[in-house]
Amino acid sequence: TILVLDFGSQYSHLITRRLRELNVYAEMLPCTQKIKDLTWRPKGIILSGSPYSVYAPDAPHVDPEVFELGVPVLGICYGLQEIAVCHGGNVSGSDKREYGHAILHVKDHHSLFEDIDDFQVWMSHGDKLSELPKGFLVIGTTDNAPFAAIIHESKPVFGIQFHPEVTHTTQGKKLFHNFAINICKCQQNWTMENFIETEIERIRSLIGPTGEVIGAVSGGVDSTVAAKLLNEAIGKRFHAIFVDNGVMRLNEPQQVHDTLTEHLGINLKVIDASDIFLGKLKGVTDPEKKRKIIGNTFIEIFEEESAKLDAESGGKIEYLLQGTLYPDVIESISFKGPSQTIKTHHNVGGLLENMKLKLIEPLRELFKDEVRALGTLLGIPDELVWRHPFPGPGIAIRILGEVTPSQVEIARKADYIFIEEIRKAGLYNKISQAFACLLPVKSVGVMGDQRTYEQVIALRAIETVDFMTADWFAFDAKFLKRVSGRIVNEVAGVARVVYDVTSKPPATVEWE
Ligand code: XMP
Repeated sequence: TILVLDFGSQYSHLITRRLRELNVYAEMLPCTQKIKDLTWRPKGIILSGSPYSVYAPDAPHVDPEVFELGVPVLGICYGLQEIAVCHGGNVSGSDKREYGHAILHVKDHHSLFEDIDDFQVWMSHGDKLSELPKGFLVIGTTDNAPFAAIIHESKPVFGIQFHPEVTHTTQGKKLFHNFAINICKCQQNWTMENFIETEIERIRSLIGPTGEVIGAVSGGVDSTVAAKLLNEAIGKRFHAIFVDNGVMRLNEPQQVHDTLTEHLGINLKVIDASDIFLGKLKGVTDPEKKRKIIGNTFIEIFEEESAKLDAESGGKIEYLLQGTLYPDVIESISFKGPSQTIKTHHNVGGLLENMKLKLIEPLRELFKDEVRALGTLLGIPDELVWRHPFPGPGIAIRILGEVTPSQVEIARKADYIFIEEIRKAGLYNKISQAFACLLPVKSVGVMGDQRTYEQVIALRAIETVDFMTADWFAFDAKFLKRVSGRIVNEVAGVARVVYDVTSKPPATVEWE
C-alpha cells in the first residue's frame, strides 16, 4: 500500500486514482496523520500539493516521522517544498505564478525517471524552491524551475515541482510506475477480481452464518453493485428495499424490479409510496424543502419497512448496507477549510440515526470506475452500469414549482423522449448526464389552426469529469429539431422546448 498524505490540493485524489490504475493499492489520509497512529505500514509515501504556502502561519505540516520510516517518499509540488523545508532548504514566493505546460529536462535517468526522456509536465504553483536543500541532487529542470525534480543523495526521498497525477503530464503514469513498483516494490495485485473474492469472504465472516442485512436500492449503479455483492456473499439473507417515491422516471420502478429480481436474483421488496410522497409535496415549491421532504419521507418509510422485515426474520437483521464510495470518504477526511453549501444533496444520509443497526459499506474503498468494473464482473447489465446519475429527489427537482401528478406525467414523458433520442443517436455514453426540466411558465403556440397556451420544457445535457464543473453538450441542430418536434407533438401540455446552454459554474447541473 502507498500512503497518500493530502495537503488539500484539488488534485490529491487523482494521485490515488493513478496508483490504483496501476493495480497498486493506495489510500489517502489527511496530512495531519501521525505515523505512529497508523495501523499498517506503507511501502511508500506521497505528499500531495496544497493551496497553502509552506511559510504561511496556518500552513499544514507533515509528521517528520515520515522521513524516519525508511520507506521511499515522493513530494509533489507543496510536497516538494515540505521536503525542502524539513531538510533545511529554502522556498520563495515566486514573482509570477507558474500555471500550465512546461518541458521537464531530465538531467539524470535516476530510478524515478527510468526509461523517461524529456517530457511535458503540468505546473501549478506560486512558491518554488529557491535553493537546493542540503544532501539533495537535481535530477530535472524546466526553463523556469532549476530545481523541478530533486533526489536525496543517500535516502529514497524525491521531490517534484510538477503534477504527475494530471493527464497533461505526459509521462505521469510511467513516473508513478517507477515510484510505486520499481522503487517502493509494491505488488500489482489490486484488481476487481481479487476484490470480489476478498470482499465476499470479509462480508461472510462479518455477518456470520445466520445474521441478516438490509439495504435500500435506488436503481443506480452504486446501490445495485453493493446489493449484488451482498447477494453473492449471503444470498437471501440480504434484503433489498426499493421505495417508489412517485418521482422516478417513466417505467423506472418496473425496470428496477425486473433487473434486480429476474436478472440478478436479489431478494427485493418494492414499496409503492408514490401517494405518500406526492401528498407531502403538495403545495411545496421551494427546492430545499422538496429535498428535505423527500429525504425525510424516505427515511420514515425505510425504517418502517425494515422494522417489519426484522420482525419477520425473528430479529436477525443486524446490518444496514450503504453504497458509500471512496470519493465520499475522501470528502469527509480531506484537509480543507469550510466551504459553502450550494444545495443539500439529500439521499439516505441520516438513515442510521434512529436505527440500531451497524453499517456495512463494501464499496467505501472504491472509485466510481472501479465500481463499474466490479458491476460488470458481477453480471450487472451495461445499461445499468453506465447509467447517468439520477438525483435522490428525482424529477421533483426537475419540475420547477409545485410537483403534482399531472406535472410529473408531463416531465416524465418529455424526459423519456429526450433520452430515447440520445440513445438512438449513439450519444448516451458521450454525455455525462441529460434530462428534461418542466418550467412553471406558459407560452403561446399554434397547433393546426388552434391557439395553444402551455408549458415550456428545458432540455439539459452536460459533459463533465467530476460534476464539480460541467460544460453543456453541443448537439447538432438536426438532433435538437427532432427532439423538440417529438416533445411538442407527443406530450400534451407542452407548447415550447428550449435548450439550456449554461455551463457549471455559473449554473448548477440541476435547475433546482
Ligand atoms: P448540481 O445540480 O449540484 O448537480 O450541479 C451535481 C450532480 O449532483 C446531482 N444532484 C443530486 N444527487 N441528490 C442526489 O443524489 C440531490 O439532492 C442532488 N442534487 C443534485 C446532479 O444530478 C448532478 O449529477
